[in-house]
This record gives sequence, C-alpha cells and structure tokens, in this order.
Amino acid sequence: MRKTNNLPIGVFDSGVGGLTVLQALRQHLPNESFLYLGDTARLPYGTKSANTVINYSLQACQQLVNFGIKLLVVACNTASAHALPRLQQTFPDIPVIGVIEPGARAAVQASASGHIAVIATEATIHHQAYEKAILTFNPKASVIGKSCPLFVALAEEGWIEGDIPERTAQHYLTPLFENARSSDCLVLGCTHFPAMLPAIRKALATDISIVDSASTTAETVAQVLEKYNLLCDADRDAHLTFLATDNKERFVRVAKNLLEYDIPEASIELIDFKA
Ligand code: DGL
Repeated sequence: MRKTNNLPIGVFDSGVGGLTVLQALRQHLPNESFLYLGDTARLPYGTKSANTVINYSLQACQQLVNFGIKLLVVACNTASAHALPRLQQTFPDIPVIGVIEPGARAAVQASASGHIAVIATEATIHHQAYEKAILTFNPKASVIGKSCPLFVALAEEGWIEGDIPERTAQHYLTPLFENARSSDCLVLGCTHFPAMLPAIRKALATDISIVDSASTTAETVAQVLEKYNLLCDADRDAHLTFLATDNKERFVRVAKNLLEYDIPEASIELIDFKA
C-alpha cells in the first residue's frame, strides 16, 4: 500500500490571502510539507455566485489532488462556505477541512454573551455560513453579519493604516456595534481581514474579542493528522511549494503587503487548469 503520510498538505485559496492560514499551519506543524495553490487568475471569489465558487474550487482542488496530497485545507472562507460539502464528496480518500467550522468554534468559546458579529466577503455573508456553524455550537447565539469587500482590496494594496482604512472600518463596523445588544466578539471571516486589524481595532469603541480561524483551523488539522496516523515521519525535511494560476509578480507583492512574507518568484509555479 502507498505510504501517504509523507505527502504534503494541500492548501487552497482563491489567491494570496490564504497565506494567513498557511502561516498558522506551519507554526503548528513545523515538520510538515505544504503545497499551496492560489487561484490568482480568478480572484476574487467573494463577489461570485455559489455555482461559480463551487466550480472554481472543484477545478483548483483537483489540481492539488493530482499533485498528490494527504489532506486538503480549504483556506478560503468563501470556498469553505459554498464548496466544502462538494469537495468532501469529490475527494473521499483524503480529509478535507474548511475554515468556517473552526472559526465558529473559536467565536463561541470567546463570546460570553452569545452575541457575535461576523465580517466576511459578500458571498460568505450571503450564505450565512458562519451563522449556521455558530448556531450548531451554541443554538442560543445571535449572529449579525456584514460584508466588507473593500477590506480585501485595501489589504492587498498593503493600505492598512491611516485615514482611508480607518474610515472604511468605521463605515462597516459602527452599525454592527451600535445597538444595546452589542456583540462581544467579532469574527474575521475572510483570509485578508487579519491584515486590517489595526484599523478594525481603532474603529471599535469597545475592547471586544476578535477571532480569526487560522490558528483554530491549524489545531483541527493537527488533530485530524494524528487521528488518521497521517503525521509525517520525524526525520523528513519540510518543503513549501507554491502554485498560482496567474501573475507571479503580483503574488510576491501581495504576500509582502499582507504578511511581510518574502516569497522568491522562482519558487512559484504557474499552472493552467486547461493544460
Ligand atoms: N479568500 C477569500 C475569503 O477568505 C477572500 C478573497 C476573495 O474574495 O477571493 O473569503
């Protein structure tokens, strides 16, 4: 039988934002190898219809599976919201883990009042993905959601401080926190939003808990690897490989803007789904 535990973990995102999840995965699982695919040719997913997000996600993840992976992490919140069940059905031989459920679990743990606010892309909010997941962990919770599409563009530009990002954050967040039953927890339900944290904190009048799904997803992945005996052998060197569907130069620039992450352009392989 083929030994799969030394294969890489596949990490799929619509673009470069999923590097926030990759970073948490590497911190939790330093011996593991990762194969990251950013579908930069078709980004953003957050403004697309459910059918399109599902089709794009299936195509992209098929590529990762063809390369050979032992587990698939769907780092993109929008893809997790719409495509996770289809991906799990399509790839029954490997565990497929999304970011919504771990993020929802973290929010329920962080919220004392059960009033939780979620910010995400339009597609994730429209699907009420976090609301549904939070209610499975705490049926008494109340969840209010708001799409914040400009945060994606600002984060990709590295425009995370100053008047424009702060006023954008105020515009999005003030209505979420102005009623008497204000939430005591804010979920950053999009790969890019941790980069906007300084502006988000400034816009929030109160000191509430802010959670994102990156580190809880990494914990979930570690547990699943252990459960299925899929942890890599201890003597293995960890490898990191990047695949993108368009524009390596922009991939490198956005990674730097978002996370101060230096990725050599030569380490990114361009792939074409039709090839
Ligand atoms: N990765 C997406 C998410 O987490 C944000 C960027 C996009 O819209 O594709 O929802």
